[in-house]
Formats: sequence, C-alpha cells, structure tokens
Amino acid sequence: TSVAPCDFVVFGGTGDLAVRKLLPALYLRDRDGQLTPETRVVAAARAGLDDAGYRDKIRGEIPRFVPADQIDDAALDRFIARLSYVEVDFAHEDGWPDLTHLLEPRPDVVRVFYLACSPQLFGPVSARLAEHGLVTEASRVVLEKPIGHDLDSAREVNDAVGAVFDEYQIFRIDHYLGKESVQNLLVTRFANTFLEPLWNNACIDHVQITVAESLGVGTRGGYYDASGALRDMVQNHLLQLLCLVAMEPPTYVDRETVRDEKLKVLQALRPMTQQDVGRLTVAGQYGPGLAEGSAVPSYQQEVEHPDSRTETFVAIKAEVQNWRWAGVPFYLRTGKRMDRRCSEIVIEFKPVPHPMFPGSDGTSEPNRLVIQLQPDEGMRLHMTAKEPGPGGIRLRPVSLNLNYEQTFQRRSPDAYERLLMDVVRGNPTLFMRRDEVEAAWAWVEPILINWAQAEHGPRRYPAGTSGPTAATTLIERDGRAWYEGS
Ligand code: BG6
Repeated sequence: TSVAPCDFVVFGGTGDLAVRKLLPALYLRDRDGQLTPETRVVAAARAGLDDAGYRDKIRGEIPRFVPADQIDDAALDRFIARLSYVEVDFAHEDGWPDLTHLLEPRPDVVRVFYLACSPQLFGPVSARLAEHGLVTEASRVVLEKPIGHDLDSAREVNDAVGAVFDEYQIFRIDHYLGKESVQNLLVTRFANTFLEPLWNNACIDHVQITVAESLGVGTRGGYYDASGALRDMVQNHLLQLLCLVAMEPPTYVDRETVRDEKLKVLQALRPMTQQDVGRLTVAGQYGPGLAEGSAVPSYQQEVEHPDSRTETFVAIKAEVQNWRWAGVPFYLRTGKRMDRRCSEIVIEFKPVPHPMFPGSDGTSEPNRLVIQLQPDEGMRLHMTAKEPGPGGIRLRPVSLNLNYEQTFQRRSPDAYERLLMDVVRGNPTLFMRRDEVEAAWAWVEPILINWAQAEHGPRRYPAGTSGPTAATTLIERDGRAWYEGS
C-alpha cells in the first residue's frame, strides 16, 4: 500500500549515499507502487546542476546500483520525472529561497528532510529550515550517522536539531536496523517459544558479533580517516545488534517500548576503565596485502596519510551487567579489508552438564545459533547428532539451516527501502532515539580517549586477513575462539 504524498528532500542529493542507496531505494519503492503520484524527490546540493542535468545523472546511476532484473523502464521513467534539483548552500543563504519556492505551495504533504551530509551541518540546515518556515507538523528530519564524533558533539547536534524539530519528527537512521535479518532477530527471539528459556547466562556461554568487510575505504577516505571503525561501525551498528540480542522482551512492539529496552542494554554495558581499554579492546589498521587475489595498498597509502593512526579494525570484549547476562561475554569485531565479507551473530551455548556418551569427553562442537546477516541472510543451528552406522554411538556435528531466499523465494528489500518508507509513515521504531545515541557514545568514549592517548597506534594486519593477532589473543585468553564458519 502506498504511503502518504510527500516531498522528499535530500540534502547531499548528489553524494555517495544518495546515489548508491537512497535513490535506488526510492526507485524500488516507486516501482512497487508505494509512492503516490504527487510525491516528489528534491535534491539539494552544490553540484552546479539543474533539473535536467540531475535527472540525466540519476538515470545513468540507478542501473549501476539496482540489479538489472529489478529495472523496469516505465517505472524508471516515472521515477526520474519526480526528481528535481535545487542548488543550495546549506549553511548560508544561497538557494534557500528557491527551495522555499518549490516546497511552499504544498504545505499539507509530508516533508522529509534527509540530511545526507556532514553532522556539522545538521544544526545549521535545521536552523535554515526553520528560518524559512519550511518545518510543518508533518515534517520529519532524517539524520545519517555518525551523530557527532563524541558524546559532547552528539549532544550539540541533538540540541541544535531538537531546537527545530520535536523528537517524534527526528529519525536517526542506523541502516542495520532495516536489514531483514536484523528485524528477523526480534521475531526469532520473541515469536518462538523454544529459544527464550535458553536465552540467558544459564545456557549461553558467550556471544560473538562480527561485521567483516572485504573492501577497503575506497573513495570515502576523507570521512573515514577522521572517524575510524569505532565511530563508523561500533558506536552504532554493532551496539544496535548487541541491543537486539540482549534486550528484554518489550510488552508489545512499538516505537517507545523497543527503544526503551535497547536503552536499558546500553546503560547496562560495563563502563571501560583505562585498564579495561588496554585489556579488552584491540584497534587494528590494514597494511598492504591481497584482496581477492590482487595486491592492494595499505590503508595509509589509500587515504594518502602516511602516519594515520585511524583504526580500520576493532575487537572488543564487552559485558552486559544485568541479571540475564552476568558473566556472558559479548565479543565484538569489525574491520575493513578482511579475508571475507561476512556479518553474523553467533550465540554459543554451554556444553551439556555431563558428557554421557562413551568416547565423548565434552570436547564435541558446542551448540551454536548462527544468525547470518551477510552475504546470505539466514540462520543455522549447530547441534550434535549420531553418525549413522551399526558400530556404536559416534557423535557428529550437524546443522539445521534456514536460508531466507530459498525459503521465501523472494528478494529481500534493501534496508533503506524499509526505513525510508517508515520515515514517510512517521514510524520511528527502527530508528535511534536521542538517549540511545548518547548512551552509545558514553560507552565508547573512554575507548576513543585511551586510544588517542596511547603511545602506539593501531596494530597492523595484512589486508585480506582476519585482523591483528591481538584480536585472536583477546578471545583465546578466555579459552574461546572466533567462529570462522563451518
Ligand atoms: C556504513 C559505514 O554505515 O556501513 C561503512 O559507514 C560500511 O563504512 C557500511 O561499509 C556497511 O554496511 P553494509 O550494509 O554493507 O554492511
């Protein structure tokens, strides 16, 4: 069903995010009939284009980012006709009257202001929107991560945007929450009876959350070098995943209840002391190496910053200090230029209390629930079975497999498709509330500070590997190992 008529304004409409993610997602929702005929998409940017130039550009780009079998020429024409372009200087006066002129005649439609630009501009753009009378009750603002670069700056951004928009109008996007497999994590936990009784420190030994990418930083070096993996991935995506694994069941699924429960998890994370940062965290940076068989340069060469200390890899042992999770470590790791692209959550269960089968000494593979987010979405339950044969009982690890694509025989929409429609609908359940973002910053801040003050920069790892050896030591010290697939 279609969503309300809308003026969807993208600040940074010619940028990487708009071109690779936002416009393809809007096109696909339009193709499937979710945008009403009146809906318009307005790019605000400083690229020296006009409507025709912008339409040409996007017509050329969409087929690069949407699979060929999803392109329908008539739908693409219809989508392109919705686009317009306004040259706007975000922080100054130029162009704002043009934008106002475009939006003003339609005060009743939903207005989405998508700020796909640097967080330093979130405040100034919001202020300009207010000054020009563009903020209506049916307006929403979408903030891309990162919100600030530490706790104080996040608060400043939130204050500045909050001076113009009410919290219900502010959508802080974390696209991981829009991934099908991430939403399914909630359903798996709370729409089935068999898991929840086991989902605690009595049965779970530990949790691993891995988001490994095989790509390097590519063209985003300028942004990335000032951020690093802790700000780019851990503060948001990995902590959000941790929240969904660890949260208590909300009474029902609703915008506030889910976010209330996630907030409690963030608040229960054991704060890192200086000593903890040394013991429980690892920062890494890739050197030259091999990616898919070809030689690739080091991070420092890639960003042309020969003594950059920015981390491209992070491993952390975290702890959720509450009744359910006391004593259960959460091992987090993420990195660029790793040996493979693989994002997964591994729930590793404790061994059986007593190894009763002859020859089984408790060293058999543990039960694991592996929730695979990327590249293929699915879930595997690793268990132990009897190997068939007459020669006594021999134990064998086996797995129950759920592959979404095979099971449902349909395309999983991209995270942005779901989230952008939620913005238009005004449903913030899958977006981060102010207090969540700030709690996440409060937890990562001591790590940022201690790394910045450390004598040594991040540990090197060759591109195309599983990260620095210190990350292996981090978990092996506890008598455990990173799960590298079976
Ligand atoms: C973004 C980060 O938020 O997520 C990128 O800024 C990262 O550095 C990307 O590559 C990963 O997203 P996905 O959906 O490809 O796992």
